[in-house]
Amino acid sequence: MTANRTVVRGGLVITASDEIHADLLIEDGRIAAVAAHDSSAARAWDDAQVIDATGKYVIPGGVDGHTHMEMPFGGTTASDTFETGTRAAAWGGTTTIVDFAIQSVGRSLRAGLDAWHAKADAQCAIDYGFHMIVSDVDEHSLKEMDILVEEGVTSFKMFMAYPGVFYSDDGQILRAMQRAESNGGLIMMHAENGIAIDVLVQQALEAGRTDPRYHGEVRKALLEAEATHRAIQLARVAGAPLYIVHVSAQQAVAELAAARDMGLPVFGETCPQYLFLSTDNLAEPDFEGAKYVCSTPLRPREHQAALWQGLRTDDLQVVSTDHCPFCFSGQKEMGRGDFSKIPNGLPGVENRMDLLHQAVVDGHISRRRWIDIACAAPARMFGLYPRKGTLAPGADADVVIYDPHAEQVISSQTHHMNVDYSAYEGRRITGRVETVLSRGVPVIDGRTYVGRAGHGQYTPRGTCQYLD
Ligand code: URP
Ligand code: ZN
Ligand code: ZN
Repeated sequence: MTANRTVVRGGLVITASDEIHADLLIEDGRIAAVAAHDSSAARAWDDAQVIDATGKYVIPGGVDGHTHMEMPFGGTTASDTFETGTRAAAWGGTTTIVDFAIQSVGRSLRAGLDAWHAKADAQCAIDYGFHMIVSDVDEHSLKEMDILVEEGVTSFKMFMAYPGVFYSDDGQILRAMQRAESNGGLIMMHAENGIAIDVLVQQALEAGRTDPRYHGEVRKALLEAEATHRAIQLARVAGAPLYIVHVSAQQAVAELAAARDMGLPVFGETCPQYLFLSTDNLAEPDFEGAKYVCSTPLRPREHQAALWQGLRTDDLQVVSTDHCPFCFSGQKEMGRGDFSKIPNGLPGVENRMDLLHQAVVDGHISRRRWIDIACAAPARMFGLYPRKGTLAPGADADVVIYDPHAEQVISSQTHHMNVDYSAYEGRRITGRVETVLSRGVPVIDGRTYVGRAGHGQYTPRGTCQYLD
């Protein structure tokens, strides 16, 4: 197979808007043409290398808009590097990630961004971009936001949680939102009332409630909903758009739905862990619950219906992973006897496309909605569309050949993420990635990894295309 001229023949091409039995012509890393299968136009491409996709789906490569490769957090560092994490992403049918560069308190945005470029440069198997975590709002960092937007870092994560780490107060958030209103940036909000949560954490620990399940109990759904509501009001005051990350509580979905019913430019993301896992996992005995500690936390399973509904009604637009893996051994174990010391985060970058295909099989969403929430919407949200997230002439040839009938069982024994457990261990999935092209170049070829660190390119982004 060469990158120059390839035809993907005989599959069902699925995008967010269409399903069509079509052939794809790829030239020099881009989709050159899409033509009905076996049409005279498609038959004319007889000089190209052929990938036979008969009986398979042909879908855009996944866009995971929320990952944390090698993120220093909670006294340790996320266990996937850019190399291992992007390789695992490719195995799971994701061809673009948008990771988070971090501003350290007292330092510039630029210093944080440079540090993340140094980590990712020449390491990635697939394309990548950056959001910026803003942890120190002052005149200098506000000015830097303007420059970063111009350079293609067009979204800024802020935290109403984690006092003393990434936390910003309402005044700092308002100022950053005002800046985003004027420079076209998008504020991404971790919406949990961290000040109140810290009180509840202390009270729980003092009462001897130290097991992982108390992580879920103190990080109350009401405190996610309250912060979501407050973030929306602050964005209204600033006149800025807002994207709420990792929504898990049904009351938070309701806040988003109410804002969107008012016509406000407010958007939301959820993650597979909130759709497929619950507080039952956090309550697993022998400290196993630590494997499921993340923030926002897993919720009682009753919340899942509201999340699926939000995805169907477009009150939630995106499913990202918030991939932030910590090994059970030596990392999650740091919180034995004190749940507040368990590093927060779950692995999942390899599992997202499959889990969402299972949601299609289970009847939660349609095939096109699968591609929308996993590919097209994150590309639009983060200024990458139509280069990423769809299969149309001119788009990057980030193409996944997906076998919708293959059966697999998720396991840490077989996954490619650099983490010693799977949050979905033993889960049966119908569907599996077979072949993955990144800009026309095979990365996974018939379930064999043929990619390389350094193929993935840094991809500057435009502004949010939901506002166009
Ligand atoms: O638990 C999580 N979500 N860890 C990653 C950091 C964040 O807040 O997204
Ligand atoms: Zn967060
Ligand atoms: Zn995150």
